Amino acid sequence: MTFTSIRRPVINTPLPGPKAAELLARDRVRLSTSYMRPYPFVPDFGEGVWLTDVDGNTMLDFMAGIAVSTTGYNHPHVVAAITEQAQRFMHVCLTDYPQEVTTCLAERLIAHVARPGEPWRAFFGNSGAEAVEAAVKLARNHTGRSHIISTLGSFHGRTYGAITLTGSKTKYKRGFGPLLPNVSHIPYPNPFRPPLGSTPETCADAVLSYLEDTLFQTVIPADEVAAIIVEPLQGEGGYIVPPADFLPKLRALCDRHGILLIYDEVQAGMGRSGKFLSYQHFFEGGDVQPDIITMAKGLASGMPISCMLARESVMTWPVGSHGSTFGGNPVAAAAALATLDLLEGHVRHPGCGESLMHNAANVGDFVLGELRAMQHEFGFLGDVRGKGLFIGLEFVGTNGRADGALRDRASMAMFQRGLLNLDCGESTIRISPPLILTRNEAGVGLELMREALSSL
Ligand SMILES: Cc1ncc(COP(=O)(O)O)c(C=O)c1O
Repeated sequence: MTFTSIRRPVINTPLPGPKAAELLARDRVRLSTSYMRPYPFVPDFGEGVWLTDVDGNTMLDFMAGIAVSTTGYNHPHVVAAITEQAQRFMHVCLTDYPQEVTTCLAERLIAHVARPGEPWRAFFGNSGAEAVEAAVKLARNHTGRSHIISTLGSFHGRTYGAITLTGSKTKYKRGFGPLLPNVSHIPYPNPFRPPLGSTPETCADAVLSYLEDTLFQTVIPADEVAAIIVEPLQGEGGYIVPPADFLPKLRALCDRHGILLIYDEVQAGMGRSGKFLSYQHFFEGGDVQPDIITMAKGLASGMPISCMLARESVMTWPVGSHGSTFGGNPVAAAAALATLDLLEGHVRHPGCGESLMHNAANVGDFVLGELRAMQHEFGFLGDVRGKGLFIGLEFVGTNGRADGALRDRASMAMFQRGLLNLDCGESTIRISPPLILTRNEAGVGLELMREALSSL
């Protein structure tokens, strides 16, 4: 299939161009040494799924600012909502004063989660890490227990609590200790690389029996565990889809021991997987309803806001015990409401069917199918996995081992052809475009990927 009639990237200069090179040199000496620069891209302006750099090179965006720009760049409905709210007031402080825009946002988010007779409440922050901190504080405060269990490969953010929970790379922790006490990690059930000597079919059982029969018997008393936190689809760790029985069995384990279940939906949530929250893919296997949910990233199309939702029966912390000066900022909340309009289909985006959530499911299925076909062409594509527009492409060497160096070359080859992409895990490229991506635009991206992979 070729997509010659529609827009394609325009590369005017060898990358980086002269202006980008100059800005990168200034960035290198004045910005924090902790910032990464996976490839030399310096944005100037965006439009839909396209980003133009300071030298006038236009790229197709398959990474959305790390799964954030849900509605693409400068969506007119979102820009109008931001402008309108900015003209009313930009800040008063939600911790002390209610504001209608944030109350509406809480109601609309809760409507995606609550079942009849099961009230929920919302706490707002500014970032994913802040939502995770809130979740951990609430879980400890509510249960009176201290231990938290997380998973290997997970990413939960960079504040002290969040990096302690994170299990993906030691670079996030080296030299920063001591971290939070009473946090343990269990393997994530990755069907492509099943842990603990298991198989793709048995990896969920293997992980949960390790927790129940080993950790709870030898290291951590189950009745001292406040919560288990898990990404229903694992993001930074490699865009991994667990087997269908994992979340139902995890929910049942938590119920047996009075442990709260926290889903970190910061990366996979907000419609990206084709459902509003990614855990909603797993109800067929049994009850998977969590006690606490964290969201951020794509919630407001790039405006900084995060939300922790919790069952009302769990949100028992006292007045004044937790808050945030900027959390739930009204301009960001207005952007989130406008993003929800598009995700839910109250406002239609041309070419994207009834809603952006449906579009993510449809276009995601198309991309997954095409990439799986490409696996026959390129033996080094060890695994293609995902749901909706949350897709991972894992690179392997001839021995089947993760090949991070090959992945890095592939990523750069895609960039040089005008396709913005991002790595994750040991050897995976994540595909996380804006959810307004059409099938034709996806086709252009796939062509660029094929060209890049052929060049390796
Ligand atoms: C699953 C998950 N949780 C939490 C975070 C932290 O979010 P933030 O960078 O906004 O603090 C991230 C960021 O990548 C994430 O992917």
